[in-house]
Order: sequence, then structure tokens, then C-alpha cells
Amino acid sequence: MTAPTVEIHLSDADLTTALRSDATRGLTADPKWLPPKWFYDARGSELFERITELPEYYPTRTERALLERVVGEIARDARAEVLVELGAGSAAKTRLLLSALTADGPLKTYVPQDVSATALREAADRVAAEFPTLGVHGVVSDFTDTLQNLPRGGRRMIAFLGGTIGNLVPAERAEFLAGIRDVLEPGEQLLIGAGLVIAPEILVPAYDDAAGVTAEFNRNVLHVLNARLDADFEPEKFEHIARWDTEHEWIEMRLAATEDMAVRVRELDLTVRFDRGEQILTEISAKFHVDGLRAELAAAGFETERVWTDPDDRFALVLAART
Ligand code: AVJ
Repeated sequence: MTAPTVEIHLSDADLTTALRSDATRGLTADPKWLPPKWFYDARGSELFERITELPEYYPTRTERALLERVVGEIARDARAEVLVELGAGSAAKTRLLLSALTADGPLKTYVPQDVSATALREAADRVAAEFPTLGVHGVVSDFTDTLQNLPRGGRRMIAFLGGTIGNLVPAERAEFLAGIRDVLEPGEQLLIGAGLVIAPEILVPAYDDAAGVTAEFNRNVLHVLNARLDADFEPEKFEHIARWDTEHEWIEMRLAATEDMAVRVRELDLTVRFDRGEQILTEISAKFHVDGLRAELAAAGFETERVWTDPDDRFALVLAART
């Protein structure tokens, strides 16, 4: 086994700079917003892992079961020598993919990318131990940076699993997909996992569970602002809201102030005032129709080669090639 490498393109200082800029823009806007990527410090990543085990949160187990069922077919259609996984996190599901791609295909190298160095190191070590013939080169970076520094030499497949593409609004998705198209060669592939539009009675509880784990996850962004920007949010004074937006077909998570308050963000020298009931938009999680996904991919220069869905049509895996 060759030792896995982990390259850091994103320092703690870079993260703080980005958070400062997002928090300044989002908390002075009307309505207020914060980007979902700031949920995921160590506590937030742990809370997300707990979410994936909740009875109401179907996406993770649905995608995993689907991947288990069709991974052999994916491996047959895959041509990858290098698998780049965006937002790899703990890389739990990827191991299914890696074992199929190494057993049946020409895969030689795995490049997991994540913003969290701790999660990535653990994942890289585990994968390297489990797949001794595979080169493992982790990159701690953001997506844009990863795409600009993609490994060369060897046909590549980019995997973006978990439904995280739904965190982007349509214009951001178009830009993101075009960015991937620009760095791939014709014939190189993209594998996307995306949640599908289903009944709100199933969707909403998945983002508003009875045990309150998602509420705590949502409030975690305020803990992150307190820790990183020396703010004095009282997270328990914000109520978790999850609603299905029928027009945009996305779940919106918001935090609503339960009383009038003024919050100091010392690192930004900023006072943020809230009226009782005022909300911060913290996440959208868009759901898709298979035809819509094909159309977005086509518009970005990808041909959809195959689509797999679970028996209840809750989740899709889409394999596309750059044209
Ligand atoms: C990790 C972005 C796929 O949108 O379902 C879970 C995050 N937010 N519960 C999602 C999340 C609330 C999750 N993704």
C-alpha cells in the first residue's frame, strides 16, 4: 500500500476570510441569509451524521441502497482511471463505488475533496487501507479550486453524491456544471446523486425530525459564528423552520428569532438587529425531476448516459459524459 496523501489548499485563515465575507453580506441583507456550507464544523458534521440515521431522513439510506443495487452497472458504464469525489466527507458510500470500479474497471486513483481536513484525512486513511492497490490523494479545498487543479493523465470521473447539488440555486448549478464541463475532456464522466420531487408529507419531516436533530444542526451555524467571529448569538432563541416551496420545488430551512434582539458580531464590528419572528434563510435543498436533470446537464454540455432511481422514485443517480 502506498501512503495516502492529503494536500491542503484551504487554510483555517482562508476559511475565516470566506466566513467573514459571507456573514457580512448575509446578515446585512434583507431578508437575511447564511450559506449552508457553514453548518459543517466538527459538531455540525457530527449532527449531520446523526441526521442520516434518523427514521425521517430518507435520502442517505435511499441513495446507499440504490448504489448497492446498481454499482455493478455503473462500473460497467464507467471508464474512469481517476475518480474525483467532490464533498467526499466520510466517504462512506464511495467505498461501494470504489470496490466495483477497481474490480471491474481500470480505476487507479481516488481523489476525495472536502473542506474539512479532519474528515478527509480519516477517509483517505480508511480507503487506502481497504484498497491497497489504489492511489489515494485527498485535497482539502473548495470546489472551484479542486476543479482548477484536477489531476491529469488518466480518464476521470467526477462524483458528486448525497444530493448536495440541491444546495445550489439553478443559476449556481448552471455555473457549477459549466465549470466541470470546462475542465473535462470529451467522454470524461460525471456521476451525480440527486433527490427527486416527492410528496411534501415525506419531504418536510425529513428536514424537521421529531427528535429535533435537524433543528440543532440548523442552529449550529450560529454556534459557528459565535466561535469563529466572536459573535454572541443565543442559538436557543431561534426556532427551526423547514418548509416546502412548491414553486421552486425546494426545501427551505430558516431560523426565526423568537424575540426582538441585537446580536454583536465582534470580529466584524457589526450589530445585527432582529425583530421577533424575523428569519435567516440558512439552506435550500432543491429536489429534481429526472427530465429536469437531463436538461440542466445538456445545457451545460453533458449527455446523460444512464439514470438509476430507487423503487419509490425518491432519489436518482445520473451518469453523464462531457460531449
Ligand atoms: C448534505 C446537503 C445533502 O440537503 O439533504 C440535511 C443537508 N440539511 N438536513 C440535504 C441537510 C438538513 C443535506 N445535504
